[in-house]
Parts: sequence; structure tokens; C-alpha cells
Amino acid sequence: MALMSGKKGLVIGIANDRSYAWHIANALKNHGAEMMFTNLPGEKMERRVRSAIDDLGIANPWLRPLNATDDAMIARVFAEAAEHAGGKLDFIVHSIAFADKTYLEMGKFIETPKEVYLQAMEVSAYTLVSMSRAARQYMNDGGSILGMTYYGAEKVVPGYNVMGVAKAALECTCRYLSAELGRTGNGIRINTISGGPLRTLSAMGVGGLSTMLDQVATKAPLGRNIEGGEVGDTAVWLLSDLSSGVTGQTIYVDAGYCVMGM
Ligand SMILES: NC(=O)c1ccc[n+]([C@@H]2O[C@H](COP(=O)([O-])OP(=O)(O)OC[C@H]3O[C@@H](n4cnc5c(N)ncnc54)[C@H](O)[C@@H]3O)[C@@H](O)[C@H]2O)c1
Repeated sequence: MALMSGKKGLVIGIANDRSYAWHIANALKNHGAEMMFTNLPGEKMERRVRSAIDDLGIANPWLRPLNATDDAMIARVFAEAAEHAGGKLDFIVHSIAFADKTYLEMGKFIETPKEVYLQAMEVSAYTLVSMSRAARQYMNDGGSILGMTYYGAEKVVPGYNVMGVAKAALECTCRYLSAELGRTGNGIRINTISGGPLRTLSAMGVGGLSTMLDQVATKAPLGRNIEGGEVGDTAVWLLSDLSSGVTGQTIYVDAGYCVMGM
């Protein structure tokens, strides 16, 4: 069933074929979506992202450099993407985060310098505001925005540290944005997926990733870790009209781990 047929949008956050954004793009493609992509500025980054998009089986992709901390660059890239898509955008995937890994070690949260804390908040949470602001004028037919979060937003996951603080801000940002975006145009929706731990480039920088994976496999109701494609399938649901009544939510795709008390 092509749930995304005729829908066009931007996928931000592919670093390689292990990225959550890659799995989301793969599922979107399988459901007929047309996508535009961005890469962190730099030739090496572009080559890497191009190769990952190639692995999706998408030839001649629309790809532009984007540093999400540059609001003017976001405005420019979103305008170009909307023009390419015929004047409107149906969906945005925000699958980016960053924190200096020196402070993503167990017992190091208290050492987090102010600039590291603020940078994590800027890249990982504030950019959902700046992207939503840039996107809303192109989403007059309604639209759906998606961010990626993690359980460390609400409970202490040793090693996740400042990233947990940034994810708490991201989830709350999503709720506040939902209340304003829902009144724009035909009702823009915004949600986050709280994904289980997955071995991606960013996740490798988090101290204790192996412990997180072991904990989920041992304790989650499903008794295993999730696969990227499972987040991809939930993303399709959230970005399609099937979820038309859902906004401001954090949806868990974590093999049920978050419901366990012990
Ligand atoms: N892997 C996990 O265990 C896990 C679990 C839950 C949530 N998440 C979240 O999923 C999202 C994607 O991460 P991932 O695990 O796929 O890792 P990844 O390294 O594959 O992707 C992170 C992306 O963020 C991009 N990025 C960083 N700074 C940026 C900036 N200033 N401008 C534009 N892009 C920037 C990188 O280029 C990269 O493409 C993140 O929000 C992450 O926190 C990951």
C-alpha cells in the first residue's frame, strides 16, 4: 500500500546507511514518497550521503548542504526544496543531534562546560523550532514534521548525559510547536519517535551504548533490540494521513522497554 504516494518532503540527517534517517527514507520510498535530502557541508560529507542515498536506489537525488545551526541557510534550503517540489512541502524529517562526546561518558555530566551544553541544545533541540518556522509557509495543505528522540530524555541513562537534557527539550519543543502549528494552514502536525538504541555513527559516541543494547535485549517486553526499519515504518505512519489525529506526541519504538519498572 503506497501511503505516501504524491507526498514530497525533506529528509535531514542521513550520514550513512546506518542512520535512522536512512531507515526512515527507505520506508518512505517503499511507500511512494518523493524525497529531497541534505548533507552537512563539506565534500567528504556529501560523498558519504550521496553513496547512502544511492544505496536507497534513488538516482540523481536533490541534495543540498545544510548546517542546521545556520537559520538563514535553513530558510534558503527549504525555499529551494519547496520550489523543487512544486511550491509545497508535505513532510520534514528532523533526524539530527550533536554533543561533544568527551562529555558523553559515565560520571562526566557534571563536568559539561556551558558551551558544550548550549551547543547540544542548539543542534539537537532548537533546530526543530527553526526548521518548523522555515517549513510552515510551504505546508498550507497540512503537513507532518517528525523528530527523533530517546528514552534518556525522561530517565537517567548513564553516559547519555547532556544529550538526555537536549532530548527532553526536543520533546517539549515538539509539544509547544504542535499547539501553534496545528492552527496553521490545514493543521500541520509534529511528533517525535523515541527510538531504541541503534549502532549509528552518533550512537557510537555515547559511552555505555553496549550496556544500553544489552539492557533492552534483556528487559524489553519483546526481548530484543529494535531494527532501524521498525522506526522507518512508524515514521511512515506519522508522516502519512493515517495518523491525521496525532500531534505533539512522543511515540516509542523501543521493543516496549520504556514500560518496564524493573
Ligand atoms: N542511534 C540511536 O541509538 C538513537 C536512539 C534514539 C534517537 N536517536 C536520534 O536519532 C537521530 C539520528 O541519529 P542517528 O543515531 O541516526 O545518528 P547519525 O550519526 O547517523 O545521524 C546524526 C545526523 O545528525 C547530523 N547533524 C549533526 N549536526 C548537524 C548540523 N549542525 N546540521 C545538520 N545536520 C547535523 C549528522 O550529519 C548526521 O547525519 C538523532 O536525533 C539521534 O539523537 C538515535
